[in-house]
Amino acid sequence: MKVSIPQESAAGETRVAIVPEVAKKLTTSGIEVVVEPGAGAAAHISDAALAEAGAKVEAGAGFTGDVVAKVAPPSAEEIAKIQRGSALIAFLQPLTNGEVAKALAGAGVTAFAMEAVPRTTRAQSMDALSSQATVAGYRAALIGAQELGRFFPMLTTAAGTIRPAKVLVLGAGVAGLQAIATARRLGAVVSAFDVRAAVKEQIESLGARFVELDIGLEDAESAGGYARALTDEEQQRQREALADVIAQQDVVISTAAVPGRAAPLLIIESAVERMAAGSAIVDLAAETGGNCELTEAGQTVVRHDVKIVGPVNLAASMPDHASQLYAKNVQALLGLMVDDEGAFKLDFEDDIIAGACITRDGEIVHEGARSAAGVEAPPPAAPTTTADAGDSSTGADQEG
Ligand code: NAI
Repeated sequence: MKVSIPQESAAGETRVAIVPEVAKKLTTSGIEVVVEPGAGAAAHISDAALAEAGAKVEAGAGFTGDVVAKVAPPSAEEIAKIQRGSALIAFLQPLTNGEVAKALAGAGVTAFAMEAVPRTTRAQSMDALSSQATVAGYRAALIGAQELGRFFPMLTTAAGTIRPAKVLVLGAGVAGLQAIATARRLGAVVSAFDVRAAVKEQIESLGARFVELDIGLEDAESAGGYARALTDEEQQRQREALADVIAQQDVVISTAAVPGRAAPLLIIESAVERMAAGSAIVDLAAETGGNCELTEAGQTVVRHDVKIVGPVNLAASMPDHASQLYAKNVQALLGLMVDDEGAFKLDFEDDIIAGACITRDGEIVHEGARSAAGVEAPPPAAPTTTADAGDSSTGADQEG
């Protein structure tokens, strides 16, 4: 099997899908790894380090593998370079980026979206949503600390005592929990809220307080462990109840998301207005519309004397470790694409391979991606007389 790693072309993308450690593991196990020169440069990985680990560094070879492994969704030009019948592994935004799915199907690429890897125990080592959210959550807490004109920790000094900062984390998924842990390490007093009841214990185990909102919401967990979208009325009650809590905070880090949908609006302007001057909001949901109504994606704005930071692609701001974790996720997935003799082989009976697959044989096979692309589901297969005819479903519904 040959795996190729192109240079990322998306603006601001500093990560890369290979690191020397992973290149070494793959090549030792008989997999050929070819890398476009300079592909790792933005993540501080030299061509020499990859070559030493056994990879071939070859100009123009980025899209030549049986499997092309990259980070960001490919551009139309990049898709045109992938050989028909080859596989692609990348973040493909299957629930929102119908155009990419259509183009990949049209190009005959067997595409696997990292977002669609089932979030099961067996697939944990391939869970790139979690690995990259870990980076984003950590960075979000640091941005909060950096943008606030106050200390996070309590300090007792000869010049007086400084009270610790109050940090509220909204949405305690992978990024939110990492933000809580990081803000706690910096000494802030942290509280957090999520609509999924299961996270209360996780929040408390990190030394933060779970904010109880009296809004008649039992538990909003849906299939796959994700939050369901709240009704308009529930959201309205949530926003009003949160405004009182937000007003007390020095920093709010918001990470609330519902897969495939615009981010829920949790922080209204009147809540920002009530925060003390000099406070800060870090809105990790900026890319999908923002949890705060004043957020501007990719910008830091000051409104009502509160700094509102709307970072995009935060994981790319820490490319070294983000790439290391991502490359490990890719390595684990590649492990399912190779047979005992080291040849490229896709087993669609495997729930991870089937679940992560977005396009195959010229069709979009992932239900969420089909709906994003506005493509009708194929008609059900004609009844067969064979007694052991297999189930043709993709099992690809992990993102709710
Ligand atoms: P995400 O990025 O989709 O959402 C972030 C957080 O926002 C979630 O915790 C969600 O409940 C919360 N949220 C949504 N609407 C909200 C609202 N209106 N107000 C407040 N919070 C709101 O989620 P993420 O971090 O990708 O994962 C969510 C969950 O998936 C995990 O916490 C876990 O339960 C499950 N998971 C399971 C894994 C496994 O079993 N291997 C691995 C990773 C995640």
